[in-house]
Amino acid sequence: MSTLSVVAFNGSPRMEGNTSRMIRVVFSVLEAEGIAVREVRTGGSKVRGCVACGRCRIENLERCALDDDPVNGWIDAMKGADGIILASPTYFANVTTEMKALIDRGGYSCKHLLHRKVGAPIVVARRGGAMQAYNALMTFFGIAQMVVPGSSYWNMGYGLAPGDVENDEEALETMKNLGSNMAWVLRKLHA
Ligand SMILES: Cc1cc2nc3c(=O)[nH]c(=O)nc-3n(C[C@H](O)[C@H](O)[C@H](O)COP(=O)(O)O)c2cc1C
Repeated sequence: MSTLSVVAFNGSPRMEGNTSRMIRVVFSVLEAEGIAVREVRTGGSKVRGCVACGRCRIENLERCALDDDPVNGWIDAMKGADGIILASPTYFANVTTEMKALIDRGGYSCKHLLHRKVGAPIVVARRGGAMQAYNALMTFFGIAQMVVPGSSYWNMGYGLAPGDVENDEEALETMKNLGSNMAWVLRKLHA
């Protein structure tokens, strides 16, 4: 059996930010389970939103018709992975702009290709709006017909400055359990 893999898209522009730290906790459990991991940073990239040209569907491109920014590379990474984590800081009670570009363009052009892959949302916030950002990520997994394992709490952590989330013990525990549940589901699906 080939090695299972999980790609995590990080919507934060901060390299060592809280979102990255949350992802790393999940990764540590996945790696211990022998699952290959890769973090792809979307935050801080120059990306365009969906322009509603419809070419991806009309021409069955299985990618976005806009090919002048990193989004098609991200879409390829999604298609190539067994599990997909979408992780974002909360910005004005929602996901970051770059994460939304991935959701809109990746979801519209190839959601059928993600069918029965394993997905998980992760969000970080200082105080408010985490649930709304979480739900924005969950809607992507739902309409893409992906399998979403839960954890011991919803996958969110609290903090403002980079590293603050390390003090959110429940968030770290939730990330460990998420990694464990994700690995379990991946193994069952690929047994
Ligand atoms: C433009 C902007 C908007 C933000 N909006 C919110 C918000 O609506 N709610 C909230 O709790 N925190 C908000 N924050 C704080 C971030 O979510 C918080 O600092 C988070 O830890 C950042 O994650 P990172 O370290 O991975 O970048 C905002 C931060 C920025 C820069």
